[in-house]
Amino acid sequence: MTPTELVAELARYLDADAPELSLSPEAFTSPELWRWEQERVFARSWLLAAHAGELAAPGASVTLAPVGRPFTVFRADDGTLRARSALGPHRPDPAVEEWRGFVFVNPDPDAEPLAPHLRRTGEELDAYRLTEMVPVAGWTEEWRCNWKIAVQNAHENYHAMGLHPTTVALITPPGGAMEVRTESRWVTRLLSPFREPLPATALPLSAEQRATMYNCAVFPCGSLAAFGDSVIWITMIPLAIDRIEVRGGVLMHPAALEGQDRDALREQNEESAAVVNREDQLGMEAVQRVVGSRFAGRGHLSPKEPGVTAFYRSLARALVTP
Ligand SMILES: [Fe+2]
Repeated sequence: MTPTELVAELARYLDADAPELSLSPEAFTSPELWRWEQERVFARSWLLAAHAGELAAPGASVTLAPVGRPFTVFRADDGTLRARSALGPHRPDPAVEEWRGFVFVNPDPDAEPLAPHLRRTGEELDAYRLTEMVPVAGWTEEWRCNWKIAVQNAHENYHAMGLHPTTVALITPPGGAMEVRTESRWVTRLLSPFREPLPATALPLSAEQRATMYNCAVFPCGSLAAFGDSVIWITMIPLAIDRIEVRGGVLMHPAALEGQDRDALREQNEESAAVVNREDQLGMEAVQRVVGSRFAGRGHLSPKEPGVTAFYRSLARALVTP
């Protein structure tokens, strides 16, 4: 398929009678589509880069290399967060926006602000007191798959049955109906029921909040999800067409940390995340091998995967916008 045909296939997801099919395998391997994505998605979208808690001290920095165009986001001496292209001083500085502790970077210095798109998320997550939350654990990994394989996977819980039978599936049942809320081209909220309501001792959560995993996906590759007293954020930065850097962390409210052994808590959270991430990594790398096979075809999307269609729509909008 030509890239034009692949984009036309994607644009079909914007129609009312969108196909309940996954993307063509070539969409994950086409070098031409990858070039379109570099220009039309990653050169002008807000990428979740870090949590401000990692960048608290002046001089603290994080370097990311989306699509081979590295930038560093850092805390300047005057206390502000800034980003700088690592490709040289002649490149314009990317835009930086902090929203409730989450640091987003957009390579387009003239990008429209992200915050208005997160207004509803902010209202819906008010009880979580995100601005007060602090990092308790974090990780950086590299997976060998196309970014869309990992991001579409993060838009559904159905895969928990196959990839996480003894971990995630025990908390978030893969058969649970997901509610998808999309009022913004950049932000999609995915609400799924937990098997049992989670305890929330430090936050004034409603019964519904304790019973629901609230996942806010920020297109193209970031998300933050509320789990009772904890919030887990994750970002999947494409390094190459078949390679991503996965960064993430666990946040908690200081009131939930009182009397806790912070080192033990970090170790425990990082160990659990490593197990779940490994399950996803092996699954995603297996899918990558399948899409590279000439026998691969489009698969049917389950009605349990409405989030995947929402992701395809966001991708289609970004790619068809000149
Ligand atoms: Fe997973």
